[in-house]
Amino acid sequence: MDLITSKNAEETRRIGAQFLARLRPGDIVALSGDLGAGKTHFVKGMADACGFAGEATSPTFTLLHEYAGSRSTLWHADLYRLDSPEDCLSTGIEEIWCGRDITVIEWPDRLGSLLPSDAWRVDITITGEHTRTISITPPLPKTTAL
Ligand SMILES: Nc1ncnc2c1ncn2[C@@H]1O[C@H](COP(=O)(O)OP(=O)(O)OP(=O)(O)O)[C@@H](O)[C@H]1O
Ligand SMILES: [Mg+2]
Repeated sequence: MDLITSKNAEETRRIGAQFLARLRPGDIVALSGDLGAGKTHFVKGMADACGFAGEATSPTFTLLHEYAGSRSTLWHADLYRLDSPEDCLSTGIEEIWCGRDITVIEWPDRLGSLLPSDAWRVDITITGEHTRTISITPPLPKTTAL
């Protein structure tokens, strides 16, 4: 697990961009943290690193946003308003997991046990008005069947 300190929103965005460079096609990222921790700023940085020229926004009302960048495509889900794992799947997120795009999920706990076990875990903790601690845990390596 890596622990990174951010001192402002722009730094969180840069940390998100640096994080994206560690990902492989098809990776899933479970992004948690309290309201206003900076999850969406972290995603903005991930979209920057995909070569997406626009501004990633909070997809609270659309549930699932696609940021098609020049280097890769990022899907951004915000499950905050959903009550059950079944509702989460009705967004169509499963089909995206099967592909080679990258998926980042805000409020991944809404998925319960349906959250893929091979997801990266990123957790943002508020430590002060402008300071955050970002913890990054890579997925456990897959055990290959003999
Ligand atoms: N170090 C920091 N990193 C990120 N955001 C910060 C930081 N310091 C202050 N902020 C402020 O905190 C807020 C974070 O907003 P953001 O929408 O990214 O949070 P969020 O975790 O996505 O919230 P929500 O749970 O409502 O979706 C912004 O207003 C931002 O300016
Ligand atoms: Mg957000």
